[in-house]
Amino acid sequence: MDRRLFLKAAAAVSGAGIVGVNDRAEALEHEMMHLLDESAAGSSVTPAERPPLRGAEGEDPLSVMPAKPTLLDFFEHRFGSASHVLQSATRAMEHGMDEEIILACLLHDLSVMNLIRADHGWWCAQMIQPYVSERVSWAIRYHQALRFFPDPSVGYEYPEMYVRMFGADHEPEPYIHAAYEYARNHKWYMAARSITMHDDYSFDPDKKVSIEPFTDIVGRHFRQPKEGLGNDNSPTAHMWRTMINPRRRL
Ligand SMILES: [Fe+2]
Ligand SMILES: [Fe+2]
Repeated sequence: MDRRLFLKAAAAVSGAGIVGVNDRAEALEHEMMHLLDESAAGSSVTPAERPPLRGAEGEDPLSVMPAKPTLLDFFEHRFGSASHVLQSATRAMEHGMDEEIILACLLHDLSVMNLIRADHGWWCAQMIQPYVSERVSWAIRYHQALRFFPDPSVGYEYPEMYVRMFGADHEPEPYIHAAYEYARNHKWYMAARSITMHDDYSFDPDKKVSIEPFTDIVGRHFRQPKEGLGNDNSPTAHMWRTMINPRRRL
């Protein structure tokens, strides 16, 4: 983790009046994603100058999506803060993880990037569930809770970022504890744990990444609907439609 990036993000989040520990953690990660992308782009806009994630009246037009958008189209046109997940997937690939884990790392924070921040593990797992294996969506759902709990057996420590931000003694909410207790005894525990192992350290402003190394893995493991995401009448198609056009009035 880059210390300058962290301190800048922590300063922005601490002044935002966010009360819940989990919400503050999510806000901090979100802020770091933006700073990471701005660093990669050579930009130095302040948080106040930064355009909002979601469209608002009078804002510049969103870029036009293809009629049958693919996951890669969303990366190109809607997932503005992709550096963090690309770094995470790159680390998983460098460490020889299997293709499902690499995909899970690539997708693990998608909802944070253009839909919703709160409880992002659950939201993110749900939005991709119709299109990936059960193991991939399960791992993404539980990575959110597992981030708060060390696992010395694989060298995962409590995130330094959280120690600096909240102190070493803060307690995650009861539902996070419950999710952790459930996940740690599950057969896919290591899949979710693998996301956290490539997550906390994926905020390097000097690392250059792209979607290119992952297009084949997406092709093999993400069941792209022929109608396009948002048009396929899946239980989560509305989430993709909302990202295509978040400015619908109703
Ligand atoms: Fe996450
Ligand atoms: Fe993440």
